[in-house]
Amino acid sequence: MKTSGGSDAAKRRAGESAAAAVDDGDVVGLGTGSTAAHAIRRLGERVDAGLDIRGVATSFASRELALESGIPLLDLDEAVGPGAPGIDLAIDGADQVALGGDSSSPSLIKGGGAAHAREKLVDAAAERFLVVADPSKETAVLDRSVPVEVLPAGQSVVAEAVRAAGGEPTLRRAERKDGPVVTDNGNLVLDCAFGEIAEPAALAATLAGTPGVVEHGLFVDMADEVRVGTDSDVRIVRR
Ligand code: A5P
Repeated sequence: MKTSGGSDAAKRRAGESAAAAVDDGDVVGLGTGSTAAHAIRRLGERVDAGLDIRGVATSFASRELALESGIPLLDLDEAVGPGAPGIDLAIDGADQVALGGDSSSPSLIKGGGAAHAREKLVDAAAERFLVVADPSKETAVLDRSVPVEVLPAGQSVVAEAVRAAGGEPTLRRAERKDGPVVTDNGNLVLDCAFGEIAEPAALAATLAGTPGVVEHGLFVDMADEVRVGTDSDVRIVRR
C-alpha cells in the first residue's frame, strides 16, 4: 500500500472512526490509500463480528484488501442503477484538503495512488462521502500537483492544454517498472502543477472539458464530512 502524509496513528484514528460510522445493511464505497486501508481493515473486523455490509471497491488495491479482510463486494454496476441498493456512504482518503469557509464545502486533491477516476465514480455515487485524513493533508489553499488521468494517445494534447491553462504537466513514472505508471483503467497520469489553486471549481471545469482527459483529481463540492485523525483524537468537520 502506497503511503503519504502524516503518522500512521493519525491515519488509523481517522480510518477507524469512519468505519465506526457504518451501519448494518450499508453498501460502502471502499477508498484507496493508506488511510482508507485502516477503515477497510476495521470494517473487516466488524464483518467478522457479524456486521452485514457490502463494499464497492475504488481500485484493484482496495478490492484486494477488502477480499483479504472478508468484506463481501458488489461491482459498481450491481450497486447503482434501477433496482440496485445504491451506495450508502463512501470512505476515502485525500492528498490535500482545503476545508473551506462557512459557506463552501471542502475541496480535495486526490490521485496520489492513481485511483482517482474510479474513486470519483464511487464517491460521487454515494449518499454520503466521508473523507479520512491526517493533519498533514490540511491546507488553506490547494497547491499540490493535480493528477490527471489521460488516454495514452492524448498525452501530448492534454499536456499542451494544461500548459495553456497555466500548469506544468509531468508524466508519472513507475517506480519498479521502466516507463510510465499505467492506471487500473489502462491510462497514463500527468501530475499537473498549477501553484496555488484559488478557484478549484473553475480549474476542475477546464480540466474536465479537455479532450483526452479521463478524470482529474480535483474533488470539488463532493465531501460531506472530513475526519482528521491526530495522534490523540479525531476532529470531524461537516459541510
Ligand atoms: C488514491 O489515488 C488517492 O486518491 C488516495 O486516496 C490518496 O492518495 C490518499 O492516500 P493516503 O491515505 O495513503 O495518504
